[in-house]
Amino acid sequence: MHLMRLQFSSIVKHVLLIWLFWWPIIESQISNPQSKPARALDATLQDYAYRAFVHHPRTGIPYDGTVPSYLTGIEISAMRLRSGSLFHRGVEPFKEFKIPVGLQVQPYVERLVLVFQNLGNWSTTYYSLPGYVYLAPVLGLLAYNGSDLSARNLPELDLWASHEAITIDFGRISSIPIGSVAKCAWFDLHGQVNLTALESGNACLATEQGHFSIVTESADAPEPEPPAPPEAPAPSSRTNDDSKKWRFVGLVSGGIVLFVLLVLLILCAWRYRRRKRMRELERAADAGEALRMRRVGNMTAPFAMDTRTMPNLEDILAT
Ligand SMILES: *[C@@H]1O[C@H](CO)[C@@H](O)[C@H](O)[C@H]1NC(C)=O
Ligand SMILES: *[C@@H]1O[C@H](CO)[C@@H](O)[C@H](O)[C@H]1NC(C)=O
Ligand SMILES: *[C@@H]1O[C@H](CO)[C@@H](O)[C@H](O)[C@H]1NC(C)=O
Repeated sequence: MHLMRLQFSSIVKHVLLIWLFWWPIIESQISNPQSKPARALDATLQDYAYRAFVHHPRTGIPYDGTVPSYLTGIEISAMRLRSGSLFHRGVEPFKEFKIPVGLQVQPYVERLVLVFQNLGNWSTTYYSLPGYVYLAPVLGLLAYNGSDLSARNLPELDLWASHEAITIDFGRISSIPIGSVAKCAWFDLHGQVNLTALESGNACLATEQGHFSIVTESADAPEPEPPAPPEAPAPSSRTNDDSKKWRFVGLVSGGIVLFVLLVLLILCAWRYRRRKRMRELERAADAGEALRMRRVGNMTAPFAMDTRTMPNLEDILAT
């Protein structure tokens, strides 16, 4: 009995541990669209881009920044603007971005900073797009409050084009495989991706800030995702809705299976204990009967009266 109880409690512990281990994964699947590493990168690049500003930066002039050595390969630049002049005059061009008049910013700030990113060979690390290959690096354009140039961890302002779209001129891109169609990919700040048609001259149009590139469907079928290495910056924004849905369904049904197993275990243990107790009662009853028989032998008749009720015990307990 003792051994059984020990085994049982360790099994329960294991089931609970497995459940606790899986639960955060299930939760993160629901609540964050795997864009965390990309968002952390945005915060780092905002900080380093602001460091490029000299003491009194001129408005409308791009200042190229330097990234920390562990991000070598990424280019950044920052430009400070008055939001009024951004709206009335636009910026033409800021690196690959041609920013027309009519750009609006929310909430209102007097000065803002546009941060430009070219993720270079880090594009697929932070913006993986299974089933597609990149024909150009991922370029980012993000807007921040430009009042305090030593600020860190700034939230992005809302930025949208109210007159005409922003043009992103990628210039030379990798050659498009024969029979494939190149498309513009736009990642918003939540990691959602939207594919739109490519404009002539390898340009993409955007009405909001975010990250942009040109992609084409990869010729071979998408390989199954390898398990993520524990330390490496996790590849981000796998935004295929279907696969997310199926993974979620898989995890939930896994949870249900674990739960059912747990219930079955509890049931087994309960039945085991019940049978054990019954056997003890039976043994006690047998002993009692033997005792009574002896007493009957000694002519103490009344004790023999209720001994025959014992065989019903099993039926009573089984109900
Ligand atoms: C990108 O290239 C630089 C050298 O130019 C290298 O240090 C860095 O590790 C590369 N990054 C990736 C993700 O391959
Ligand atoms: C912009 O930054 C300045 C200085 O830190 C602050 O006073 C102001 O409230 C900020 N504006 C917004 C809209 O966050
Ligand atoms: C993608 O962009 C098109 C055109 O702007 C828009 O109609 C569509 O709603 C967008 N889809 C998503 C998921 O954002």
